[in-house]
Amino acid sequence: MGCSKWRAAVNFGQLKVQSKLSVLFTMIVLFTYLFYCLNGYCDSLPRPQQFGASPPSPSHLTDLWSSVAPSGSSSSSSSSNMSIANSFGSKKFPQAIIIGVKKGGTRALLEFLRIHPDVRAVGSEPHFFDRFYDKGLDWYRNLMPRTLDGQITMEKTPSYFITKEAPRRVFSMSRRTKLIVVVRDPVTRAVSDYTQTLTKSPGLPSFQNLAFRNITTGLIDTSWSAVRIGIYAKHLENWLRFFPLSRFLFVSGERLVSDPAGEMGRVQDFLGLKRVVTDKHFYFNQTKGFPCLKKPEGSSRPRCLGKSKGRPHPQIPSGVLLRLRDFYRPFNLKFYQMTGHNFGWD
Ligand SMILES: *[C@@H]1O[C@H](CO)[C@@H](O)[C@H](O)[C@H]1NC(C)=O
Ligand SMILES: *[C@@H]1O[C@H](CO)[C@@H](O)[C@H](O)[C@H]1NC(C)=O
Ligand SMILES: *[C@@H]1O[C@H](CO)[C@@H](O)[C@H](O)[C@H]1NC(C)=O
Repeated sequence: MGCSKWRAAVNFGQLKVQSKLSVLFTMIVLFTYLFYCLNGYCDSLPRPQQFGASPPSPSHLTDLWSSVAPSGSSSSSSSSNMSIANSFGSKKFPQAIIIGVKKGGTRALLEFLRIHPDVRAVGSEPHFFDRFYDKGLDWYRNLMPRTLDGQITMEKTPSYFITKEAPRRVFSMSRRTKLIVVVRDPVTRAVSDYTQTLTKSPGLPSFQNLAFRNITTGLIDTSWSAVRIGIYAKHLENWLRFFPLSRFLFVSGERLVSDPAGEMGRVQDFLGLKRVVTDKHFYFNQTKGFPCLKKPEGSSRPRCLGKSKGRPHPQIPSGVLLRLRDFYRPFNLKFYQMTGHNFGWD
């Protein structure tokens, strides 16, 4: 009896302590809230610099190029009245995709584009429309970086251009997708492609052994991917069954090297972006013989086109290259006709 009375008293005491604690807790919360409000954190005014200028995305904070964005200037369009809730944006399907071609300069193009504050791009190649299509569109969208209104979501996977099913698949995601193809002289592209493979597997047969079905007759092996990728007209035909020509932009891989700012002007116009990426973002490295991106403060090393220039180039007999050039000529002419653009490869 006495014992349970005593227990009840203890319980009562605990209750009193608990209610005191909860009052204390409520007051702490209230004071914290008041403190923050007085400091201006709970209204929807633009927040200080770190969130105002360049919309943050946790996965891209370490991205070298996003920090090149001219501070303050642009992106004001969307950020003047940004609430905390939407400052991280949402994931959207890409409105523009760099669909090709391998060794054309797609990596450089994407890195140049990422300087633009209104472009957000996936860092790696998603390979959704060729390899991972069965993972579904939700999986694909989830790979995308978050964007704010007015920003463009992009990705690049150069193998889309030569994938038979890709046009239909992209079309069924959105028929309004803008398609960018970086093309380059198919002969130098093939050599560059072969050189890259050679560094990965040094035991590879010679270029001419792979390029010809019969070296005596000069019959080209069009099943070898290094050759096949360069038959641009054939691949483009496949895409034109689904998309009108106006949905494409063909970027010259050669001009991306000789006049990066000029070519970037075309790209930004095509994407409906302000021309933010200009001459002032590039310099020419005489030693390398290639344009480089001016590096942002504190970043480790400059980014240049033609990174592979240091690689040992295989000796390919000029006769072999001439034969290959002959092989491509009719396909090139057809490609010029289809695109209405002479790339000057012959
Ligand atoms: C800012 O946001 C508020 C509340 O959503 C809205 O009423 C106001 O029109 C906006 N101002 C601008 C300049 O967008
Ligand atoms: C290459 O073509 C020549 C001439 O037609 C023929 O004699 C030879 O057997 C062919 N070689 C191969 C490996 O097919
Ligand atoms: C130019 O390229 C060379 C060779 O890759 C490199 O050593 C040098 O640091 C580069 N210079 C600049 C200014 O980027």
